[in-house]
Amino acid sequence: MRGKLVAGNWKMNGNLASNQALLQALIPAISPIAGVKYAVCAPFPYLGQVQQLLRGSCIEWGAQDLCQFDHGAYTGGVSAAMLADFNCRYAIVGHSERRSVFGETDEIVALKFAAAIQAGLTPILCVGESLSERESGVTEAVVARQINAVMVHSGVAALGRAVVAYEPVWAIGTGKTATPEQARAVHAFIRRSVAARDEAIAAALPILYGGSVKAANAAQLFSIPDIDGGLIGGASLNAEEFIAICRCAQPAA
Ligand code: 13P
Repeated sequence: MRGKLVAGNWKMNGNLASNQALLQALIPAISPIAGVKYAVCAPFPYLGQVQQLLRGSCIEWGAQDLCQFDHGAYTGGVSAAMLADFNCRYAIVGHSERRSVFGETDEIVALKFAAAIQAGLTPILCVGESLSERESGVTEAVVARQINAVMVHSGVAALGRAVVAYEPVWAIGTGKTATPEQARAVHAFIRRSVAARDEAIAAALPILYGGSVKAANAAQLFSIPDIDGGLIGGASLNAEEFIAICRCAQPAA
């Protein structure tokens, strides 16, 4: 049985004081429940702080990116092994902001995914279409291309150690959420695409939804069969909102 995962993506936000306040609010409020995982993905400089504060809690942590190379003359790069050194469980790869602002191609994302797997991290592979792609009817083609790049490079079995996040670009930070039907359709498409190569891997693959998830819409989104939790941007910076979203992933008592 696939469990649920709620992961916060802090993006380039926070500082030592605000991170501490946020985590100290989350830790006592989020309790371990079978089948539900929680994580925060922090900026690189704060991974040591996050590790120190979250150690022993039921909240795991991760990074928002990593370098595709192991080590060497890559100024500014942070390797998968460095993330593992800070006990990161997750590394987000291919977030649309990395693709659009930093020019990451499907090939680069596939290399980053492979580097994360190699180091024993769980990559959270982000896929999703822009507004113009949706309007021109190529959503499935875009998402298929993004997932295939990874499956071709690492093999479908690698998805057995990964998480996929469907994040329609037009829903990120805009307050616009995909309708339950739009999200359901793409999540089902992603699972079918993976199932075409390996049914067992597809059945076990957690597929998160990301894009303006809030406490007010999380319960509805998480109740959709192919939606296995969320990747939360803005709302993950607010303790009350994030806690409420985490609770929406827990089975009803
Ligand atoms: P928002 O939740 O702020 O829309 O961001 C979504 C996202 O990009 C998570 O990775």
